[in-house]
Amino acid sequence: MSILEELESRLAAALQQVLGEEVDGRVLPAADLRFGDYQSNAAMALAKQQRRNPRQLAEEVVAALDLGDLGRAEIAGPGFINFHVAPAAFAAAVSGLLGDPRLGLPDRGDGRTIVIDFSAPNIAKPMHVGHIRSTFIGDALARIARAVGYRVVTDNHIGDWGTQFGMILHGWKTLVDEAALEADPIPELLRVYREVNARAKEDPAILAACKAELVKLQAGDAENTRIWQRCVELSKQGLEKIYGRLDVRFDHWLGESFYNDRLAGLVGEFLAAGLARESEGAVCIFSDGSLPDDRDPFRIHREDGWSDNPAIIRKADGGFLYATTDLATIEYRIDEWSADEIWYVVGAPQQLHFRQIFQAAERWGKRAEFHHVAFGSILGEDRKLMKTRSGDNVQLTDVLEEAVERAGRVIAEKNPELPADEAAEVAETVGIGAVKFAELSQHRMTDYVFSWDRMLALQGDTAPYLQYSHVRIRSIFRKLDADFDPSGVELVIGEAAEVHLARLLVRYGEVVPQVLDDHRPNLLANYLLELARAFHSFFEACPVLKAEEPARSSRLALCEASARVLDHGLGLLGIRCPERM
Ligand code: ARG
Repeated sequence: MSILEELESRLAAALQQVLGEEVDGRVLPAADLRFGDYQSNAAMALAKQQRRNPRQLAEEVVAALDLGDLGRAEIAGPGFINFHVAPAAFAAAVSGLLGDPRLGLPDRGDGRTIVIDFSAPNIAKPMHVGHIRSTFIGDALARIARAVGYRVVTDNHIGDWGTQFGMILHGWKTLVDEAALEADPIPELLRVYREVNARAKEDPAILAACKAELVKLQAGDAENTRIWQRCVELSKQGLEKIYGRLDVRFDHWLGESFYNDRLAGLVGEFLAAGLARESEGAVCIFSDGSLPDDRDPFRIHREDGWSDNPAIIRKADGGFLYATTDLATIEYRIDEWSADEIWYVVGAPQQLHFRQIFQAAERWGKRAEFHHVAFGSILGEDRKLMKTRSGDNVQLTDVLEEAVERAGRVIAEKNPELPADEAAEVAETVGIGAVKFAELSQHRMTDYVFSWDRMLALQGDTAPYLQYSHVRIRSIFRKLDADFDPSGVELVIGEAAEVHLARLLVRYGEVVPQVLDDHRPNLLANYLLELARAFHSFFEACPVLKAEEPARSSRLALCEASARVLDHGLGLLGIRCPERM
């Protein structure tokens, strides 16, 4: 049991003794360490419920509280209970951590399955920086949910069907450069798409030709189907390359087209069940009136008051839409994968779409816990949406190239002796790590400014700082004559810097599951920064190799635990640690 769980269970026992009934008391890490390591406002919350004096209740609870060797409790302010954990208890907990391959992470899975829908770029359009956020946040959440014991299914719901294929088909037949396509498909498909798009704007005949190609594809025309398939295949290959580099994997790639043959039946079912009705030739889902207007995704406020805001699931021309596919996708994920929860890591502008389909799915009887894990935008240094000089979306591959190149320069300066091939590998790990960490250390809803200098700084809130901290710890062990085995080492913790480091190490198992409460990897990212800072303060204040036993072994054990937690924690964010840099 972690220290936090131990405190919670002892607090629960004291509460039961005082109140004569079973109540849970939540304990949280203290916001201000001067007042203790952990705190609880349970007495205040319960006093309010029971109309009692909170301070008095807190006093009774503290009197009944038996913390044993764990530490002591005291009351602060109107009835907060503050816990001061004994250094020996921290020492024992760090020993426990070193003997635990999970490093103190709890098992919360309980057999639950979470489907995570992330990245999901659109075919024939390159991934742009907007997809960076989805890819990195989604991948980190998947790793973290797995690490705390959930069954996780990751699905790349690519946009491989839709109106853009009219233009691509026309372009494929008239403009494509086969050699360029073979060499690097995504940029060539993009070039063709942009070119046709521009021409169609000028020339209505081209626009009509594109539409005709799309209609043929939708009707199952053999040639167009073959071209479309090839296009999807090539794009997937290009994407796989990028994901490989990013170390991102998907269990499935069920794109929009996978659901094509289910859509007609779905619309029929919605009509038959009275969940949707025809309106001006289209089939629409309207409000069922169960929510007040201001919380109803099928109602909208315009100048003249509230009006209907239906979700269209079949257009008047018979075509299906994004909402139709997403409803079919929900059914599939629940029926085939037994999803208990489905998380959509998609930008904030799609909020209304998700509110609508979540509610429609519920009315349809598809039960799961749905979450739209939304995020804001990435801004350029001018604080406007990040674009290239020509005004296009910045492409993810270009971002990665530049990150790796710049990381290479930082490393060459830091460690010119590194052999070239190793230096190249380290640059890749550091550059990509830096981009990921810049994303993951931000609250997902903030619009953050993409700054190369800031994300690559060795002394800053960055991946390179954490990776370098890890390298420094590992280099301590290289100075030893024999391998250091931390198992069985009895930790002796006395110095304030040691206590603080131990306190943070023990907190790892508490912070990681907390990330999932509100899908916020930045909690883990910021914890790792705090841990690294605590390590450096400890290392400055306390000699390690030159210390006498038993302090020497104890401190080496603290070093070992710090390195393991840094490595593991960065791993959960999808970031690797190089051995040297
Ligand atoms: N392809 C979409 C886009 O790029 C994202 C898809 C998200 N997933 C979903 N099930 N709707 O905007």
